[in-house]
Amino acid sequence: MIAQCRRGVLVRGVLTALFCWQAASAPASDVPYVPTPMPVVDAMLGMGGVGPDDFLIDLGSGDGRIPIRAATRFGTRGMGVDLDDHLVRTARADAQQQGVQDKVVFAARDLFDTDLTRATVVTTYLYNSVNMRLRPRLFEQLRPGARIVSHDFDFGNWQPDQKITVDVPGKAYGPPTSEIMLWVVPANFAGTWQWTLPGAAGDVRHEAKLEQKFQVLDGSVVAQGQRQRLGEPQVKGDVVSFTLSGSAGAARYTGRISGNSITGEVVRGEERPLQWRAVRIKTGKMDISAGPAHRVVIGSLIKEQ
Ligand SMILES: C[S@@+](CC[C@H](N)C(=O)[O-])C[C@H]1O[C@@H](n2cnc3c(N)ncnc32)[C@H](O)[C@@H]1O
Repeated sequence: MIAQCRRGVLVRGVLTALFCWQAASAPASDVPYVPTPMPVVDAMLGMGGVGPDDFLIDLGSGDGRIPIRAATRFGTRGMGVDLDDHLVRTARADAQQQGVQDKVVFAARDLFDTDLTRATVVTTYLYNSVNMRLRPRLFEQLRPGARIVSHDFDFGNWQPDQKITVDVPGKAYGPPTSEIMLWVVPANFAGTWQWTLPGAAGDVRHEAKLEQKFQVLDGSVVAQGQRQRLGEPQVKGDVVSFTLSGSAGAARYTGRISGNSITGEVVRGEERPLQWRAVRIKTGKMDISAGPAHRVVIGSLIKEQ
């Protein structure tokens, strides 16, 4: 190819040189084009809870079916990016034909050069290795609570919040089923937090030390000299919940983070809910590091990375 290009440059002059330069500099596709079957598209949009207030970005959008379907069914605005110029033109034409050209745009662009900050939902049908390269960008650019819905390929040691398998008779590769997975981008709750709550003999000071790996929270709370581990800790976007046991029975905490404070409520037994406000006095780091080598599954082909 390069030899041909060199000959071409000599023989056909500037135009050929331009073509060869373009071919050499065009970014290579990371994943071949395989469309997501429409029943799977619908299941993905359902799992993502996609609605009219969302902005959906499909990374590697192919013929644009995911953003177009979201726009026609739910009025969702969105964008698709794909390296393949022909597919981008097909997607634009289909959006026009379906009357949603004002809601969805398509760009011929590398997904790794795409600004994701506007997205409330990101959809992918990419290889695991591509997802793993993408993962740090998702954490950098998406807001807590944003949803990521992937067809068949996971994000390594970041466990999905939900996963379903749907039947896909006649699927183009692998078994006749598709896996659909949902991740909700977690806010970072790691660090040292303090709050007070009224007790039988006055206010009780609490101090919690929390660690977080992706959406998985763990830690302990010290109150009145007693340390106890968080019970049933859960992070969903910017909302945290956990339980602590106390003299008045179990206390269920639920709150929303904003910067270095959490506001919410505590429910203790039959008591009326109490307001809860915690302040972070030392910020920790959410662990989003890749685990040990992850398995890459491409149809029936499995290899270690
Ligand atoms: C498996 S197809 C998925 C198409 C569509 N999202 C769907 O689910 O029907 C993957 C798409 O990603 C595109 N693609 C691969 N690498 C890309 C990259 N680095 N940037 C943008 N698009 C890319 C391919 O051209 C292909 O259309």
